[in-house]
Amino acid sequence: MHLSGKTVALCVTGSIAAYKAVEVARLLKKAGARVLPVMTASAAKFVGDVTFSGITGERVASDMWDPSWKGEMHIELAQAADVIAIVPATADTLARLAQGRADDLTTALVLSARGPVLCAPAMHPRMWEHPATQANVLTLLQQGRVELFGPVMGEVASGERGVGRMAEPEDIVVRLARAVGPGDLRGRHVVVSAGPTHEAWDPVRFLGNRSSGKMGHLVAARAFIRGAKVTLVSGPVALPAPSGVHRISVESAREMQIELLRALGDDLLSADALVMAAAVADYRPQITHHEKIKTSRATSLDPSGANVSDTIPSTALPMVLLAENPDILAGIGEARARGKGTRPVLVGFALETGNDETIVEYARKKRAEKRVDFVVANHANESIGKDETRVWLVSEETVDAFPVMDKARVADLILDELVRRLG
Ligand code: C5P
Repeated sequence: MHLSGKTVALCVTGSIAAYKAVEVARLLKKAGARVLPVMTASAAKFVGDVTFSGITGERVASDMWDPSWKGEMHIELAQAADVIAIVPATADTLARLAQGRADDLTTALVLSARGPVLCAPAMHPRMWEHPATQANVLTLLQQGRVELFGPVMGEVASGERGVGRMAEPEDIVVRLARAVGPGDLRGRHVVVSAGPTHEAWDPVRFLGNRSSGKMGHLVAARAFIRGAKVTLVSGPVALPAPSGVHRISVESAREMQIELLRALGDDLLSADALVMAAAVADYRPQITHHEKIKTSRATSLDPSGANVSDTIPSTALPMVLLAENPDILAGIGEARARGKGTRPVLVGFALETGNDETIVEYARKKRAEKRVDFVVANHANESIGKDETRVWLVSEETVDAFPVMDKARVADLILDELVRRLG
């Protein structure tokens, strides 16, 4: 998550969701952050401070008047923190923040802070809906100093359902990473495609490929953390939608094309960049059968051990005639060239077999043919389904070779190049 070197002041206030702040602290630590825990008196009724000091390795700050603390606690914490997280934020905390109170450490800290402050409200839905709470929320939004994340619809402690449940810890951590991230894609709309496509032959069978969708999902996740609005059009994958990303799930190449064109807009101006990481199937069965195609094979083995179906004349076996799918990226590259524009920045992928030289050569050809800005080239056997890969970034002018690295780092390399091109 790349939070190393960052410091988060984690203020825990008195809601039953306080136990989830323990998980937030753990995830922040795992992502490399330093976590300074702050607890209100009522938070301590729900969770022990030893839990937070144990997980964070830091002393828990709670009493502003603690004589053993040298200096001004709220000012020092505000200066040390890159971001303040209020997890969970109760109705009372929101009210007190809206009023600008400073009579406990959390509120005084927020008033002293000049960096980002993220609140994750949690309360019973009736408390959230109350006009007093809503007025406080409005005040906070108008002041623009505090970002509210959640609450979300779901089950609350009482077992009832409604809007009041705290956002999930993983999602809160992603928001915090975005709050302290480079922000170099802020205000940009990045469209990403990912995964394979499945081309239906009948209701049960399809033509597809082995793409896992990891690369595209990581590009989408990292683009969100770097500040972008992200639309991810994904083929069938076994991955969850990255937090904060709008994922549209599709099956076939033609569905993917429709959704990508919708995301880019008629004039291609609704997005700043398209990263085409999907392994789009080049062919589909010419005919999709609506009924399952029956197998004609005999299942018994003859005495020699050969499968009897091997001996069925090939004319009796079902034939799949193929039709060519549209080349989505080439079509978009052509439309952009026709409009003589430079947006969206177009990034293609080339997944090939062969030696290093031929892979780079294919990528060069592909970049020119598809009229895209750069192509990410890699070996199929070094990449498909793996967490690491070795890539070349191939543009008109340059070929940059990189060593084997984590796909999350490759995603950042691609986005670095995008940022350079977006200017
Ligand atoms: O020609 P090839 O399939 O190797 O090109 C790979 C690049 O083109 C990838 O970025 C892929 O997403 C895109 N592509 C496409 N439509 C296709 C096939 C590939 O957009 N039908």
